[in-house]
Amino acid sequence: MYLAGEEEIEAIARVIRSGQLFRYRDDSECERFEKRYAADLGVGEFALAASGTYGLAAGLVGLGIGPGDEVLVPAHTYMATATAVLAVGAIPVIVDIDESVTISPAAIRDAIGPHTRAIIPVHMWGAACNMDAIMEIAARHDLLVLEDVCQGIGGSYEGRKLGSIGHAGAFSFNFFKNMSGGEGGGIATSDPKVAERARCYIDPCHFYWQGRGDATKPFAGVGARASELMGAMLNVQLNRLDGMIGAMRSEKKKILAGTRHLGNLGLKASPMNSADHDCATQVMFLLPTQAAAKAFTTVMPSVIAGKTGRHTFPQWDQVLMHEGSHHPALNPYTLPENKGLRTTYDPDMCRTSLDILNRTVMVATNPQHGERDIDDMIHNIDQAARVALENVAVDDIVIRNTKPVDLQKFDSVA
Ligand SMILES: Cc1ncc(COP(=O)(O)O)c(C=O)c1O
Repeated sequence: MYLAGEEEIEAIARVIRSGQLFRYRDDSECERFEKRYAADLGVGEFALAASGTYGLAAGLVGLGIGPGDEVLVPAHTYMATATAVLAVGAIPVIVDIDESVTISPAAIRDAIGPHTRAIIPVHMWGAACNMDAIMEIAARHDLLVLEDVCQGIGGSYEGRKLGSIGHAGAFSFNFFKNMSGGEGGGIATSDPKVAERARCYIDPCHFYWQGRGDATKPFAGVGARASELMGAMLNVQLNRLDGMIGAMRSEKKKILAGTRHLGNLGLKASPMNSADHDCATQVMFLLPTQAAAKAFTTVMPSVIAGKTGRHTFPQWDQVLMHEGSHHPALNPYTLPENKGLRTTYDPDMCRTSLDILNRTVMVATNPQHGERDIDDMIHNIDQAARVALENVAVDDIVIRNTKPVDLQKFDSVA
């Protein structure tokens, strides 16, 4: 969340004054947001939920994923992508990312096995996955695609909104996301059956208020209903989204243009799958060595992608420990249906991913940066590159007006 001010306060105050904080009512803020956001994304339906993790699980339930199924997830993502797979009884299979820091289509091809049913491409740090390649592989192997758009809100892939390309897309509206309701999440899809199942998972009692159709037999789900306070805030945040993404895209373009000359030293912009359309929340550079990446970050406030503290598979404790459920009898790793699925993880696997992540540095954009901030950042990136790649001493460079790493985007950095 970059901006929240009087308009959000007023929208939330209006809901409190109305005394109607439950979403099933006339003039529902949640319903208004769901319709507006579905139209914005270009999908048939959007269903709000209490978090992105619930959104992911609801998407998998909607798609019919469960015990007996393997789901391919990237080695670099927040752990919730993998735990959502476990929450529905299926097994996450971890596959490599490529230099775009998103899931590698070649690694997907190599990882597909007889039990693979779905892929979760994660638009990590706002960078779009290679959706054309992923959808082509999915069609050829009859796999379902659930986009994890939690970090990709407001971005597109070659003109199509992230979350509208796969069979469903899951979103988070927690504090660190491009659009926030404090917490929150949801699921987008154009398949009414997927939407109905997802809504039943999010609120299995919804038919008390909304009625029950004959198309889908209801089942016991969790309770992850959104509140009107969240809906009210998101309706304001949605008004801000395109302007914020536009500002970050223009900042990213300026930074890339202003640092292109450093390619000669070895500071290479990370390859992007949709450079003009993604969220541009980070400008990423790939350095030749891990030591160079480390030296760069000591001068320029920036973050090494592999050192964000929680976004890479060796940090997914419950997954690596096979603690897949609160109760042993429900643990997907020991369910008879999952016998024969690939359940082994080795902290040494996906070495290519770890190498790329430890050489990738991220410089955060911010819609509130002015021209002066951006010029200073370009200057500082130049100076950091000279320290990292030309062995210039830190005492011999000049750093301008540095701001600390943007905690808006990282709640902690390892
Ligand atoms: C890529 C990714 N997936 C899933 C989630 C889970 O979202 P939430 O925290 O709203 O449950 C997050 C949140 O940080 C995320 O970044």
